[in-house]
Amino acid sequence: MREINGRTRVCGLMGYPVEHTLSPLIHNTLAQELGVDMAYVPFSVEPGRLKEAVEGARALNLAGLNVTVPHKREVISCLEQIDPLAQKVGAVNTLVRCGDGFKGYNTDLTGLQRAMKEDGIELAGERVILLGAGGAARAVAFLCAYAGVSEVWMLNRTLKKAQAVAAEVNQAFGRECIHGLALSDHEKIPKGSYLAVQGTSVGLFPHVEDVVTGDAGFYQKIHTGYDLIYRPSATKFMQLVRAHGGKAYNGLKMLAYQGIQAFELWNGVAVERAQAASVMKKLKEETGAHE
Ligand code: ATR
Repeated sequence: MREINGRTRVCGLMGYPVEHTLSPLIHNTLAQELGVDMAYVPFSVEPGRLKEAVEGARALNLAGLNVTVPHKREVISCLEQIDPLAQKVGAVNTLVRCGDGFKGYNTDLTGLQRAMKEDGIELAGERVILLGAGGAARAVAFLCAYAGVSEVWMLNRTLKKAQAVAAEVNQAFGRECIHGLALSDHEKIPKGSYLAVQGTSVGLFPHVEDVVTGDAGFYQKIHTGYDLIYRPSATKFMQLVRAHGGKAYNGLKMLAYQGIQAFELWNGVAVERAQAASVMKKLKEETGAHE
């Protein structure tokens, strides 16, 4: 940890609970690596006290904030400005000072996009299979439409939820690019080579043997699989993608890059790959990932 002095900029995370967050590790590592005089701390903000907390942050002249569960939606009403993607999704995880207030961004999504880019994946023009229709998958569906994918097959156990999200995203972008489908109907996805994003909670530690589908025909269509889960480091989904010849990645790089992009916004710096690699190394050590 760097020494704190009278000029140290303070950033932090507002959430409830915050005890298990990895964000202080990400940001304090970056501050050290880049020689930025900034400290990052967790703030436990109870539901119902968010507005007070944001006002307090303004008064305390905090340099920037991350926002997590359960405040990502509600925080929008506390902002001066909002980035267009964050506005469309209706969720903000990063607050950057603008004048006397804050501007909101969603670096969960731009971080995923950057993590993919580093792994050689450009979303523009991709054919995508998206597993799930909960909060995380819904946000990825917005990112896909925003980034110009050619189509998304959104598979969910509960068909109605996939259909509702598909309709919402298609309407927001004025094009029919998201198709909702029941998980059990996955063989209806046209033949082809797809990027798959695993956005359900299935396979999360300690249920490491669980997977949304074990069907070989499904995995044969996947050239690259991203699991948003990072515990365990290789989920059953990732193992099956690899067993059928595809590449597979977990959600740790996405986690790193949502932090890196927030750090860049707060400090006006560019984080280089080698510095990002230091963050990944620390995260792997902390989560016990051995990939
Ligand atoms: P998050 O905010 O992490 O996305 P969520 O909103 O609770 O969490 O969404 C969980 C997702 O995992 C949903 O898509 C859910 O499917 P349903 O909409 O049918 O509930 C999916 N999910 C959870 N358990 C599942 C299971 N055993 N099999 C298939 N899908 C499952």
